[in-house]
Amino acid sequence: MAVVHITRRERFSAAHRLSRPDWSPEKNLEVFGKCSNPNWHGHNYEVWVTVAGAPSAETGFVIDLSELGKIMREQVIDLVDHKNIDLDVAFMKGRYSSTENLAIAIWEQLEERITAAGGKLVKVKLQETENNFVEYHGE
Ligand code: NI
Repeated sequence: MAVVHITRRERFSAAHRLSRPDWSPEKNLEVFGKCSNPNWHGHNYEVWVTVAGAPSAETGFVIDLSELGKIMREQVIDLVDHKNIDLDVAFMKGRYSSTENLAIAIWEQLEERITAAGGKLVKVKLQETENNFVEYHGE
């Protein structure tokens, strides 16, 4: 049976800071650059979630994209949009707010609901700036 990958994009804006308290301000600046700014800063994030499956004989859909958008908003966007990732977001507690860690956490937020909706989550792509994005495939 033909397997098709479909992708839904959502966007959010959030503040964060990357720094280790056990490092000097100079070392933090050297490693984390502008993302170590003590008074926080923001990014306009874009997140693409890809689901794989065979198109349904009844609808032709792999997964209903409006249902996928709803899951993304309820499980991720509503919890992070216009929030401080380091202070306000329960699913990021105890993790450094790198794009890598955020992509893993987003996967964990989504997988169960997407499976319940009949889809197979295969990729979370998260873009922090125009020039940088990460992809997580669940392993
Ligand atoms: Ni940053």
